[in-house]
Amino acid sequence: MSADPELMANRVIDECSSTNDLARLLAERGCPDGTWVSARRQSAGRGRHGRKWEGIEGNLFLSVVSRIPDSRLWSWVPLTAAVGAAAALRERAPRMDIRIKWPNDLWVGGAKMGGVLCEAAANRNESFIVIGIGLNCLERPGGLDQETTSLSEAAGKAIHADEVRVAVLQGILEGLAELQARGTGLASRRYHQWAVFTPGMRVQWGVSPTRSGRVRGIGSAGELLVWADPGGMERLFAEDVRIRRAF
Ligand code: BTN
Repeated sequence: MSADPELMANRVIDECSSTNDLARLLAERGCPDGTWVSARRQSAGRGRHGRKWEGIEGNLFLSVVSRIPDSRLWSWVPLTAAVGAAAALRERAPRMDIRIKWPNDLWVGGAKMGGVLCEAAANRNESFIVIGIGLNCLERPGGLDQETTSLSEAAGKAIHADEVRVAVLQGILEGLAELQARGTGLASRRYHQWAVFTPGMRVQWGVSPTRSGRVRGIGSAGELLVWADPGGMERLFAEDVRIRRAF
């Protein structure tokens, strides 16, 4: 990277490998809480569990640095960011039924429209979390092992990242400010209102062996509580959880 990363703080740039990498550089250089960077294209974007995240122009790629001092709230940051983004989009498009698939995917009509990747770093002097959100605005990526959609597809008209970037950023920042000031109440209430995984729903997680159970809700750390088969409560923190289809 040739340009000074500090020049990219709170800016939309044309291209980078990953906005999460840029935000991390900014954080390591001491940028304040809430600093953000967005790119029109990403050449090496990544998703959760080491997956690739396509950098299609017209979609949103945005990363925010959070310096929430109370580390007990850290496990709530991914869900709070997803809920904040969903709240902003719901306000702009009230007829679009945007939901949260735990822990931090944005879904519409049973398909994934966006996701959040949080990466934390700490040393003796400081700690921070980089929150990266990818939102399929103009186009949905193909070739994934799950159904995807885009804001444009859901709205029935073309919507470019430029039209929603500020609203999504504000939604995330407001959610984080609320989390710091008043705790997890609002994020938790909104999550339950918009959750894909409703109580009693049958879900599956894990690979070889695959586990299954019924959703109970979320716990005090933002984890998914599941009553597992054949019995017993499990607390899931970062697993890929799928709706279990009837055979
Ligand atoms: C997921 O797997 O659902 C999370 C996807 C997160 C993608 C975003 S795009 C902006 C930021 N930069 C990255 O490399 N990843 C995140």
